[in-house]
Amino acid sequence: MKKLSPSRVVNIADLRSIAEKRVPKAVFDYLDGGAEGEVTLRENCRAFGDITFRPRHAVAVGDCDLRTTVLGGEISFPAILAPVGYSRLMHPGGEVEAARAAGEAGTGYILSTISGHRLENVKAATKGPAWYQLYLVGGREAAEGAIERARNAGFSALVITIDTPVAGMRERDPRNGTPELLTGSIFAKLPFLPQVLAHPGWLTAFLLDGGVPRLENVLAPGETGGMPMLDVGTALRKSVVTWVDIHWIRQVWSGPIVIKGILTADDARRAVDEGAAAISVSNHGGRQLDGVSAAIAALPEVLAAVNGKTEVLMDGGVRRGADIVKAPGRGRSRRCGSRNRNTA
Ligand SMILES: Cc1cc2nc3c(=O)[nH]c(=O)nc-3n(C[C@H](O)[C@H](O)[C@H](O)COP(=O)(O)O)c2cc1C
Repeated sequence: MKKLSPSRVVNIADLRSIAEKRVPKAVFDYLDGGAEGEVTLRENCRAFGDITFRPRHAVAVGDCDLRTTVLGGEISFPAILAPVGYSRLMHPGGEVEAARAAGEAGTGYILSTISGHRLENVKAATKGPAWYQLYLVGGREAAEGAIERARNAGFSALVITIDTPVAGMRERDPRNGTPELLTGSIFAKLPFLPQVLAHPGWLTAFLLDGGVPRLENVLAPGETGGMPMLDVGTALRKSVVTWVDIHWIRQVWSGPIVIKGILTADDARRAVDEGAAAISVSNHGGRQLDGVSAAIAALPEVLAAVNGKTEVLMDGGVRRGADIVKAPGRGRSRRCGSRNRNTA
């Protein structure tokens, strides 16, 4: 992969503006956007500003050791990469390259079910811990097949995302013609093609990569090719997970389970009762239920409820190292990041 010059990328906001120039609007807005009025999306970032440091100065700092552990594995700093569906649409390397980069940085990677790359190839690309995030897209049998493959490939934890009972209404997507571009006829696509043609570099790479990738890890019984990639709404509508599902998932996965999408003490306690090895305080980056609290604001309630009985991760709005420092100040937790591309 082409390396970006350090003078061009000083912080995550720089990466965001490079991405905005590089990919068509439909792809950028899928990555960047949130649900409805995007109140929670904005609040996730803004809420970090409410937390201030109280410095104790005139002390020698020395070398800082950022290493920590998550689910028993050591990582080089307290962030891992959160799952990001459809990464292969943004770059042909997609999930494989993101996992490789996480491993080179000494940290972990969570692979989304909505992946254009085979989970075996993603696992093989990284030296770091790799976890598999499960949606029930394709039904229970497809999920059981993916769980077995994930175990055989060496994924060390299963992440179950519980905040997608319905698809978030991401208002940027219909405006950009995302459903038409992904699944529509050529006539339906026509009005939305200029934004795609305006990005010949991305378009060439996309076409050379074979166009819209299939969901390589969602296989119906007896099928060998992955499920065709659907629009986000359709995919998420078919992926409702309930606490009852955790029971049968337990029968087919004996390793650690992480419950992602916890925002309240009640759900946190339920996750502990269900035997979660870790929970992730998350509102899906404001992409699901708009109007819920910022993830960092929900963290103290959840930490108090679990009272050390399980590991606690959080994601949402983490955009720089200072944000990572702020969360443990609210108790013992680590961060996961996705749009910042640095998570733990
Ligand atoms: C483009 C995109 C795709 C995502 N796909 C998934 C997914 O497939 N599964 C999942 O559990 N979370 C998914 N998420 C949510 C992230 O894992 C994470 O919770 C969220 O992005 C954190 O918010 P932030 O990126 O604004 O910091 C996705 C987020 C983005 C931005």
